[in-house]
Amino acid sequence: MKLAIVGGGSTYTPELIDGFARLRDTLPLEEIRLVDPDEHRLALVAGMSQRMLEHAGHPAKVIGTTDLVAGVAGADAVLIQLRVGGQDARHADETWPHQAGCIGQETTGPGGLAKALRTVPVVLRIADVVRAHAKPDAWIVDFTNPVGIVTRALLEAGHRAVGLCNVAIGFQRRFASLFDVDHDRVRLGHVGLNHLTWERSVVIDGADRLPGLLEHRLGELAGEVHLAPALIAQLGVVPSYYLRYYYAHDEVLREQLHEPTRAEAVRAIERELLELYADPAQHEKPAALEGRGGAFYSEAAIELLAAMRDGASRSRVVNLRNDGVLPFLPDDHVIEVPAVFRDGGFVADPVAPLPDDIRGLISGVAGYERLALDAAVHGGRDRVLRAMRAHPLVLQHDRAEQLTDLLMAENAPFLEWA
Ligand code: G6P
Ligand code: MN
Ligand code: MN
Repeated sequence: MKLAIVGGGSTYTPELIDGFARLRDTLPLEEIRLVDPDEHRLALVAGMSQRMLEHAGHPAKVIGTTDLVAGVAGADAVLIQLRVGGQDARHADETWPHQAGCIGQETTGPGGLAKALRTVPVVLRIADVVRAHAKPDAWIVDFTNPVGIVTRALLEAGHRAVGLCNVAIGFQRRFASLFDVDHDRVRLGHVGLNHLTWERSVVIDGADRLPGLLEHRLGELAGEVHLAPALIAQLGVVPSYYLRYYYAHDEVLREQLHEPTRAEAVRAIERELLELYADPAQHEKPAALEGRGGAFYSEAAIELLAAMRDGASRSRVVNLRNDGVLPFLPDDHVIEVPAVFRDGGFVADPVAPLPDDIRGLISGVAGYERLALDAAVHGGRDRVLRAMRAHPLVLQHDRAEQLTDLLMAENAPFLEWA
């Protein structure tokens, strides 16, 4: 199999490569093409990746290129994992919303809207090149945030695409270790939109173990998602840590106002990683990579690509078209739930009706996501304002106006229509 990774110069790439080396029997690869506009990074990451594979005795060749057409030509699958504007744009997303009393985050709230506006046009142009030059049946696996909005953009444009995030696999691995069972035995009742999800069940060998977990390990689980135990006890489900931006918005804002941003922390980790990647003696995934948020993302990608190639009966959590699974959302919305790959496409497992509070929040954020995609595709301040106001963390018109002005000022170089 020939795999192209767009945004392959990411410091995350050796995480993927480590997975390819460990799971070579699950997903045999002959060629890995790293495509990235940053030649310097690309050279360091490609060199490191090739050394890692050679050290593990993996036969795959790593090819680094700045030429997208050459990179995706003849690829069997294309993974897209890019960040338009890099950590600088992320740092902006994490700070300007503070001026209007809102949390700053790269995928949630006003910062997430900015990221969607910067990213969707870029990913759509890449996808057109994939359609023209990759194998005709090649899939796009999208890791690029905001994954829900970007995946929907791809599907609406008629691409063969699926969105992936590591939140669900993180829970699966965590629950497997709590019960000391192989992760393949753990099935999650994972539901929601990307970065807006809840675990409603943890089924191991046919039995739901979540009620027991909530009874015996509530404090621990609550601590891991940084939420109040009483909140989780009342919900009776485990929210992802992204729900903290809603359930504990003001507390997060207070913390953010006197802490460095995640972008600043990541910049420091990246400097360290790039130095290690430049060292010809390095041929194993550095421990410093664990400081990034991407745990298990390689395994998520590999398991998914293998299931798509070989077929598999097991469900995996992906971002896909709703098609009635959440009956209160439009069919063409993109949701994040377990699905199986069957007859060349993904089919979601049925989802039991949701309680009113969770359904309401999903509806609100889905409305925002639809308006955000409209703004990203068609441009214009009015569309941005409308999406901004629709976000449940904004809602007030004055605040939405202020945030829209901030967003446009901060992102002018990235908004082709502005
Ligand atoms: C998690 C999320 C990803 C996000 C990442 C950020 O893995 O699921 O969508 O990109 O965290 O990690 P970072 O190290 O860049 O903060
Ligand atoms: Mn994610
Ligand atoms: Mn496994």
